[in-house]
Amino acid sequence: MRPSVGLDIAIVAAITVLTFVVSVLFELNERLVLAMVPFEAYQIDELPITILTLAVAMAWFSWRRSRHARLELGLRLAAQQALVESEVQYRSLFMENLSANFIAGDDGRVRLSNPAAASLLAYGSPAELDGRPIGEFYMDGGLWERHRERLLKGEKVEVPMLEMKRRDGVAVQALAKLSARVGPARDAELHVYVTDVTAVTTMQSELARALEENRQLSQRSMQVQEEERRNLARELHDELGQSLNAIKVDAVNIRDHTQAQPDVQRSALAIIEVSTQVYDVVRSLMQRLRPVALDDLGLRSAVQYGVDQWQRRHPGVRCRFEAEGDLDGFVEQVNITLYRLVQECLTNVAKHAGASRVTISLKRDGNQVRFEFEDDGRGFDPAGKKRGLGLIGLRERVESLGGRFELESAPGSGVRVRAVIPAEKEKT
Ligand SMILES: Nc1ncnc2c1ncn2[C@@H]1O[C@H](COP(=O)(O)OP(=O)(O)OP(=O)(O)O)[C@@H](O)[C@H]1O
Ligand SMILES: [Mg+2]
Repeated sequence: MRPSVGLDIAIVAAITVLTFVVSVLFELNERLVLAMVPFEAYQIDELPITILTLAVAMAWFSWRRSRHARLELGLRLAAQQALVESEVQYRSLFMENLSANFIAGDDGRVRLSNPAAASLLAYGSPAELDGRPIGEFYMDGGLWERHRERLLKGEKVEVPMLEMKRRDGVAVQALAKLSARVGPARDAELHVYVTDVTAVTTMQSELARALEENRQLSQRSMQVQEEERRNLARELHDELGQSLNAIKVDAVNIRDHTQAQPDVQRSALAIIEVSTQVYDVVRSLMQRLRPVALDDLGLRSAVQYGVDQWQRRHPGVRCRFEAEGDLDGFVEQVNITLYRLVQECLTNVAKHAGASRVTISLKRDGNQVRFEFEDDGRGFDPAGKKRGLGLIGLRERVESLGGRFELESAPGSGVRVRAVIPAEKEKT
């Protein structure tokens, strides 16, 4: 029963009135004074006033204490309210989370889960998961047992790619984070947070497949391009080359039989000169289209020949070529890619670099072949706007063979190109 303040005051008033009436009836105070006379020496007669003061002080003290107690009670109630509110907040965070959340007992059976967990595992509602062992949702039940053991030892477990099993048996790829906590009932609780990454994984593998297809396509297109070049070179050689030769032979004949007609002889000489020039142009075109030396001499000598030719045309630049290791017998595409690397880099030096020194090296390094190029020319900003296709083409060629292509340059500090290509050998 709640004590009533009015009743308490009435009791205090009644006791006070009763004491007064009894005191008047029996002259209590006079008796007390008389009784104290013999102890006057000990100042006992001062006791009543002292006791009165003590009573007032006690009343003040109990008022203070009760006020303090009231305040403390208020604070405690507010703290309890805050606790309830934060519990509501955390619960809604847990329930509304887009990741699947599970809380299980130390036996691994689900105590609480959220709607995302139910939908991840193809269940109708979180309540359907209650009491089920988490191991049931792992593709590999043994893995769950290992995880549980680690959690109970106080470890945290993070799994970047966990294969989970839906109710219908379909696999789900997930990112999972597991930890153990002490629950409200002071027992161990296992917390499992899971994010479905199936879509990302599928996208990743599709992307990898598309990249691989792209690589094959680009390799095939390079192959076709090289075949086409080879055909063109052959046509140029067989058709144009032969015809030019025939023209030249006829012109020589005319020259030799027209000593008496200087005008005709002059024209014949002009035809011989022009056809020789055109033949030179055609030969250099053929050489660009199809480095014959590559088939005849092999990679090392073909590159050396190309470098020498280039050096002859550019005597102002010092070009050094180094070759190391066994560079023979690579498949056609590796050979042609390495040759085109050298060719394009040297053409770029002539077109853009204004360099005085160029070094090129080809090195066999285990199952790889390394190409390195460096010039000391004006360089450029590789991140800047690009116009040409030469360097892009080189990168595509190298990457389509499963190699790595690196370009380093900055205005004023030359150009460095490095490529590493798996050195596939021709099958014999
Ligand atoms: N060795 C170099 N020194 C200075 N600048 C260079 C060098 N190589 C390339 N560049 C710069 O990079 C750009 C792109 O080179 P890339 O070889 O791709 O194209 P390009 O030579 O201009 O044309 P393409 O090779 O298609 O005939 C060039 O336009 C040039 O500005
Ligand atoms: Mg170029």
